[in-house]
Amino acid sequence: MLTEKNKMRLLEEDELFPSTPGKVKIERAHTINRQFHRCFASTSTTFLWALFLIALTASYLSFQSFVSTSSRFLSSSAWDRQVRTSASPRRPHGLSVLVTGAAGFVGSHCSLALHKRGDGVVGLDNFNSYYDPSLKRARRDLLSRNSILLIDGDLNDHRLLSKLFSLAHFTHVLHLAAQAGVRYAIENPASYVHSNIAGLVSLLEAVKSADPQPAVVWASSSSVYGLNDKSPFSESDRTDRPASLYAATKKAGEEITHTYNHIYGLSITGLRFFTVYGPMGRPDMAYFSFTKAILAGKPITIYRGKDGVDLARDFTYIDDIVRGCLASLDTAGKSTGSGGKKSGPAPYRIFNLGNTSPVTVPTLVSILEKHLKVKAKKKIVEMPGNGDVPFTHANISLAMAELRYKPSTNLEAGLKKFVKWYISYYGRSSRGGRKTNL
Ligand SMILES: NC(=O)c1ccc[n+]([C@@H]2O[C@H](COP(=O)([O-])OP(=O)(O)OC[C@H]3O[C@@H](n4cnc5c(N)ncnc54)[C@H](O)[C@@H]3O)[C@@H](O)[C@H]2O)c1
Repeated sequence: MLTEKNKMRLLEEDELFPSTPGKVKIERAHTINRQFHRCFASTSTTFLWALFLIALTASYLSFQSFVSTSSRFLSSSAWDRQVRTSASPRRPHGLSVLVTGAAGFVGSHCSLALHKRGDGVVGLDNFNSYYDPSLKRARRDLLSRNSILLIDGDLNDHRLLSKLFSLAHFTHVLHLAAQAGVRYAIENPASYVHSNIAGLVSLLEAVKSADPQPAVVWASSSSVYGLNDKSPFSESDRTDRPASLYAATKKAGEEITHTYNHIYGLSITGLRFFTVYGPMGRPDMAYFSFTKAILAGKPITIYRGKDGVDLARDFTYIDDIVRGCLASLDTAGKSTGSGGKKSGPAPYRIFNLGNTSPVTVPTLVSILEKHLKVKAKKKIVEMPGNGDVPFTHANISLAMAELRYKPSTNLEAGLKKFVKWYISYYGRSSRGGRKTNL
């Protein structure tokens, strides 16, 4: 017999644990839900906190790295002295030149040539890994052995640029830093915008604000001629039909520099280089990668135009390009602005720097075979639509008249010097391991 007291207890327990399964589920589900919510609420709070801490750490680290790239330089008086010393000319009326892209192929050669004749040189380069940065570091070591300071920094680092222009009174900027290469734009288009558009504007902003304003000589490219089929290419020919993003950014550079010339009175000289080659060259270029492959016994791919016509380039030897760059600096004329306003018109010039004698790619290969004393394994394929143009050919009469530019090295002689350098640097082994200093 159940006593009233026990009945009451069972009733209470029944209410607490009802017999209907659904109810149990609902009630238990509520309990689980509550626990889950409590647990989830605390997990999500923990998660949010963790996220917050990660974000905080990331922003601290990126701030630190920004501070360390910029302020590594910006806080040391020893570094200030190095910049001033390297920028100071060692001859009367010598130039003081900021060379961007100085760890690059053309930039390193120009820096050495300027220094050799007694001009002050400070180099800037971000040592990006578009091609093997160890070659860029080797060029930097060579510059350093010649007492040329080469700063590891990006064109888009505004603080670094304004610090540089406040430390040294550069008379000229030789702007060679860029994302080069036609085909890589398909893989990494943003790098072209970063360096060739944003980086150029960042540099011009710093130049515009510098007092005194330096004159700017910068590398455009023969690629701006794009689909132009009138040969040879003259500066007055159409350049509004680029065939690659690289070409489009160089063409944009010509328009951007014109704007800074027009508004701020910057003296501007744009140089349209035609396929530059030579010692310490760029590993991504055909003559260089062919050399490596031929020595390694690997096949090389030779592109041919759609109608079976061989591709041809106006290959220009590095020493000729260097002479053209230095002549451009020497004849640049002054910028006329200060405090963001121009006091009169400043020069705006564009020159082709080529060799005026295009050579087909199969001929280039046969010259390499001769100098390397190895037969190439050739694979001939139709040129894909990747931005390459079938031929380039420079009309250089304007540069001859105004810069006294006169290329003097033909492809046969230039490739002989390149091959000699390549073998002394990498050796003949297929691994292409580095053997010596530059
Ligand atoms: N070599 C040629 O055949 C050729 C032909 C036409 C035009 N050009 C132009 O001539 C110039 C020099 O070419 P190169 O063959 O010496 O190329 P390169 O790649 O050897 O040199 C360019 C250098 O610029 C640096 N750089 C790139 N972006 C930078 C940035 N944002 N900040 C700082 N440094 C940066 C790179 O690290 C590199 O060392 C480039 O402007 C190129 O577009 C070259």
